[in-house]
Amino acid sequence: MEIRLKRLLNIGFGSLIIMGSIACNNEKLTKHEDDLETKIDSVLSLMTLKEKIGQMNQYSGGWEVTGTPSDIDTQTKLEKLKNGEVGSMLNVLTAKETREAQEVVMTHSRLKIPLIFGYDVIHGYKTMFPIPLGESASWDLNAMEKSAQIAAKEAAASGQHWTFAPMVDVSRDARWGRIMEGSGEDPFLASKIAVARVKGFQGDDLASENTIAACAKHFAGYGFGEAGRDYNTVNIGEHELQNSILPPFKAAANAGVATFMNAFNEIDGTPATADKYLQRDLLKGEWGWDGFMVSDWGSIAELIPHGFAKDRTDAARIAVEAGSDMDMEGRAYEVGLETLVHENKVDVALIDDAVKRILRVKFRLGLFDDPYRYSNTEREKSEVYTNENRDIARDVAKKSIVLLKNQNHILPLDKNIKSLAVIGPLANDKDTPIGNWRAQGEANSAISVFEGIQDAIGDDTRIFYEKGVDLGVGERSFLAPLKINTTNKTGIESAVKAAKLAEVVVMVLGEDAFQSGEGRSQTQISFAGFQQELLEAVYAVNKNIVLVLMNGRPMEISWSAAHLPGILEVWQLGSEHGHAVADVLFGNYNPSGKLPVSFPRSVGQEPFYYNQKNTGRPADNGEVTFSHHTDASNDPLFAFGFGLSYTTFKYSEVKLSASTLKPGETVTASVALTNSGNRSGKEVVQLYMRDLVGSITRPIKELKGFEMVSLEPGESKTVTFEITPELLQFYTANKKWETEAGDFHVFIGSDSRVSTFAELEYVTP
Ligand code: NOJ
Repeated sequence: MEIRLKRLLNIGFGSLIIMGSIACNNEKLTKHEDDLETKIDSVLSLMTLKEKIGQMNQYSGGWEVTGTPSDIDTQTKLEKLKNGEVGSMLNVLTAKETREAQEVVMTHSRLKIPLIFGYDVIHGYKTMFPIPLGESASWDLNAMEKSAQIAAKEAAASGQHWTFAPMVDVSRDARWGRIMEGSGEDPFLASKIAVARVKGFQGDDLASENTIAACAKHFAGYGFGEAGRDYNTVNIGEHELQNSILPPFKAAANAGVATFMNAFNEIDGTPATADKYLQRDLLKGEWGWDGFMVSDWGSIAELIPHGFAKDRTDAARIAVEAGSDMDMEGRAYEVGLETLVHENKVDVALIDDAVKRILRVKFRLGLFDDPYRYSNTEREKSEVYTNENRDIARDVAKKSIVLLKNQNHILPLDKNIKSLAVIGPLANDKDTPIGNWRAQGEANSAISVFEGIQDAIGDDTRIFYEKGVDLGVGERSFLAPLKINTTNKTGIESAVKAAKLAEVVVMVLGEDAFQSGEGRSQTQISFAGFQQELLEAVYAVNKNIVLVLMNGRPMEISWSAAHLPGILEVWQLGSEHGHAVADVLFGNYNPSGKLPVSFPRSVGQEPFYYNQKNTGRPADNGEVTFSHHTDASNDPLFAFGFGLSYTTFKYSEVKLSASTLKPGETVTASVALTNSGNRSGKEVVQLYMRDLVGSITRPIKELKGFEMVSLEPGESKTVTFEITPELLQFYTANKKWETEAGDFHVFIGSDSRVSTFAELEYVTP
């Protein structure tokens, strides 16, 4: 015992053990002065096998950790907490409750290794920011970093150490409900956003009380489920995996993301949770990443229904060998690992590696210095949902709006317009803007579009509001299936009356918050319920319609695109939704967002994305036998990267500093961009490239750079991108990331449809 205590003192948290109290006061023992790996090894050397396995075990809260357990299972869980058999908890909320749960461990367990608390802080903690897909439409990396920073600050003030975000799954399928949680269809954009979000959550110092550990998820392929159906089988080849799916994960790992989460899906027959190549060989081996991998909820135990393990013990063996370090509520490690080690079926070295990784993150968070650092009820009161945070949310929100159509300059609206009708089931909805994955965002707490308009409009405007129809009916929550209204359309008549009285109609349509998110895949992506009927009835009496589209996925809006003069894509923008929408509607902010996903003409085109392969039959030969659907054009309804402004921009031709590029060299590509309209505005200038011939076939275009430029009316700027051989790399037929010699087209323009290019040759000696 004496020896153990001495060793504990050496690693810097002896006072916790001796006094059973909060902090280690010894200044000398700070993380900066001690060698992290020595500390980790010291802790590990003290642990029994049971305690080690305990660190790999994560339970969900939702039960009274300090009160009387309501059932026997909870009683067992509580005992396990006391015995040091739990390393982490998720869904334990508030500073008070996290402190109480931590106290159980710090008071009763032998080694007093602090718990790490995790929570899905996906787009805000209580101050809600735009859903991640919406925020990605800002293409504004600083704004996205800031939003993650505020989310981290609020979460940290409320006792959380760790968010299960960012979700960096590339997705090309609008049917998938979780497309709302990612950053769209492009691996380059997704990589930049992944880094911004990791930096925002983690800051420069994980131990700061304002930062939390991030988690790159879901490793890997989760966004590619067949038919866009959640949890479904993924069948992709190695090149697709490497070139389209892994880049944002690699970027997050390089940015120092503290944790990864694996995925529910299988890829080509191997469940991701059991994938040794991905987790152990690639991520922890080749990429040299030293954080820990948490399973997705129950995904280790789900190896059984996958037909990959025969029972929990078998699942535990497979998952630990593959490199899953922590078992989220699967209870497979708890059930199986000890026996597996005793029977020599699992090498204890694998367990040691997992535990070291978990301890490393706990040390980096400063939990060994002060396990209660984040559970501060005072900070929770003063730093959460502040006016300042809401202002920041409004700023990101307005930047996330995409102007899709603006015929005859119907927008911006005059603040002193004589009459305005605001119509639609989402027009005064204060809940849908909070979106799915809403953490502590309160139901019905957002500013609705109607409220935002009322705050912005002049006193003399006559304003009419009509809901028209309900969209969803009944209970709305994370787990309740959403029921769409298919019976009551009695409100259409009064909506039509209001539309007749107004100069302009703002129609607010789209999706309920719970139409997207986990388990919310759909076969249809057009307006649900009676919305289309409402829209067409209004259109019959007033054609001056601005459609405000609120949604968590690309939608099929071909009719609207063909008939309505104005369309604003506003997603679900969080707490300040209505204010941000009004900022754009009335021109206080000139829209600058660009789509991070393509909008198809029809759901039948999904999966639908700009960076497709050319196929052997790309050309429209006017006959039947080319690659197309006979009932829809291959062109997107709205393209990836597309978004209008209240001003206009003119691009010059692309100029290259040289027509050949050699190893070690850089060629610059530039355009002169001019604001040719009469308002100041911002444009996201996009660089695309096409590799004409490859050892594997290459996409018709790939985003390779972007820059946001602000210009006053009449002002011009030269925008320059650097092209290096590294930028041209891809995972080749040699199964390596390489640049192949050959010809490239270089495009710079305002969206992915840009067609003029300069030619560049990459020459190797
Ligand atoms: C399952 C989801 O797939 C994952 O993203 C989330 O973090 C966990 N549940 C925890 O809520």
